[in-house]
Amino acid sequence: MATNEFLYDLKTPETTWRGKVQHFFPNGDVGSDVGRITPAVGPHGLYWCLDSLMHKVPDELMDSWEMPHYHAHGYETFFVDSGKLYLYINGQRVLCQKGDIVHLQAGQAHGFKYLEDTKWRGTYHDLETYPESGDVARVKRMMPELKDDPELTALAARGEMDSNFMALLKFDCVDAPAEQCLAVKHVDRPHAAYEFPGLSMRIIVERWENGGTKELACAVCEPGFTAEWVKYPPLRELFYVRSGKVKFTVLGQEFIADDECVVDIPRFAPHSMEVLEHSEIYDLGGQSYWSLFLQNYASVRKFRPEQLTPETVESLKKRFDIQIKSIGMK
Ligand SMILES: [Fe+2]
Repeated sequence: MATNEFLYDLKTPETTWRGKVQHFFPNGDVGSDVGRITPAVGPHGLYWCLDSLMHKVPDELMDSWEMPHYHAHGYETFFVDSGKLYLYINGQRVLCQKGDIVHLQAGQAHGFKYLEDTKWRGTYHDLETYPESGDVARVKRMMPELKDDPELTALAARGEMDSNFMALLKFDCVDAPAEQCLAVKHVDRPHAAYEFPGLSMRIIVERWENGGTKELACAVCEPGFTAEWVKYPPLRELFYVRSGKVKFTVLGQEFIADDECVVDIPRFAPHSMEVLEHSEIYDLGGQSYWSLFLQNYASVRKFRPEQLTPETVESLKKRFDIQIKSIGMK
């Protein structure tokens, strides 16, 4: 698919990944390929999106490799878009696969074991990161003779982010289905769903699961559904079209986003969309208070329909930072 400055097609990592980093298993096999899609911005490190291919754990490590760690601060949300893995969390071992979303909170010990090569896309925020790691990597890349120098390695001892490995060797846990694990989300098991013609708005991760900083909503849209945003939206939008086909118009440029496409829309950029096929569109930026807006809207719609005037809707949108001007079916 043709790419442009607003579109990152994760189906073609060779054109969308910036600064690919590899991690290795102790036996030297590649453990993961990680590419940056969009960098973290601001004090909360919002809008940070990484794409990874996590490789199957080698057979000889299958019984021991569970990657136990936690982040003292910071939140991670991963989309599982192929493959299979075990998630270890809260005393549970949970099999995750395509369609699952893994949401991890600050201070929550977790681990993973990849049973197959797995497409693993993440957004993060409030994670402490260590910029010296990139500077050290540059020295090693440009002066390979220093790559094993312990003095240089010690300058970036904590790696790229605040990942704290633990004393535990393996997780003492019981098997549980994904439906019973609070950390595993799915578009078919939202906290809440609100229905409109051609649109079902699903609340996947609530703000209280993200330290109050953001939320994750998914718009499940039918063909012919259209949305137009306010003329100069003050909030940047980062969307993930996980599946489907959507025509976006951003700053007068028209383009199609289909399966596994990230759409990055800058502040104040006039934009609209038309859904061409049944689509799941996730709001990765998470700055609009969709959950509160939709609870209020749905309540007025049901119990005081006579009050659902354009003025009421406008004031709710304004109060909860909803940037949509209008929705409808073509
Ligand atoms: Fe983690």
